[in-house]
Amino acid sequence: MRLLFLGDIVGRPGRNAVTERLPGLRDRWRLDCVVINGENSAGGFGINEAICDEILAAGADAITLGNHSWDQRETLVFIERQPRLLRPVNYPQGTPGRGANLIDTRSGHRVLVVNVMGRLYMDPLDDPFAAVDRELETCPMGQVADAVIIDVHAEATSEKEAMGHYFDGRASLVVGTHTHVPTADHRVLSGGTAYMSDAGMCGDYDSVLGMQKEESIRRFIQKTPGARMEPALGEGTLSGIAVETDDRTGLARRVAAVRLGPNLEETWPRFWD
Ligand SMILES: [Fe+2]
Ligand SMILES: [Fe+2]
Repeated sequence: MRLLFLGDIVGRPGRNAVTERLPGLRDRWRLDCVVINGENSAGGFGINEAICDEILAAGADAITLGNHSWDQRETLVFIERQPRLLRPVNYPQGTPGRGANLIDTRSGHRVLVVNVMGRLYMDPLDDPFAAVDRELETCPMGQVADAVIIDVHAEATSEKEAMGHYFDGRASLVVGTHTHVPTADHRVLSGGTAYMSDAGMCGDYDSVLGMQKEESIRRFIQKTPGARMEPALGEGTLSGIAVETDDRTGLARRVAAVRLGPNLEETWPRFWD
């Protein structure tokens, strides 16, 4: 299978980059499954139903979230009727929505998508390792799922690497999100799981993490309340990871970073062109 994972969509530039480029990439690379983190897609803060529908219509099979899951209150309601929208699986019991789902892709495959949040320098949630373990036990790769994608929404690289190795051999891809900056460590681990510490963001990189740089810089210099944080509005870049898996086992065969758009040096899976 051919999988594409894209990092946090930040505001309109991120959404535009996805809606303008993804339909063409799906065809050109004959993608079987696309998962995108959408936690900052609504003005930098959360997601709403219209934007969720827009991202799915552009070619995403599933959308993951993170610490910004509930910034738009309507998400608490519509997530219950949107099985392709996932929030972290290790939120407390009784939290609306779901943290994992076996997704039927347009290509006819079944992909288990899991969203989990780290605990280092983040909200103290349930044990992320145990929470994902439970999902993998009920839906093992190569038996129930054709592929497994785990989005580890976390601050600390150590926690993300630990999770990559812990799930190595049981997932097609363990990929980090949340820092909005892509790392250069994409690879296939020894057990056959593709890994990248952070997918980066889909947004305007002429910014501080996708938000307008002037207000962000000001907040570091002057410790006074100021203007609202707004997304930077220049052209957005797509950022993430492409993975080719073995159809029988679900394990990764090769990986490539994806960066398409201005500001960052462009790169893509040349083995698919
Ligand atoms: Fe984010
Ligand atoms: Fe985040």
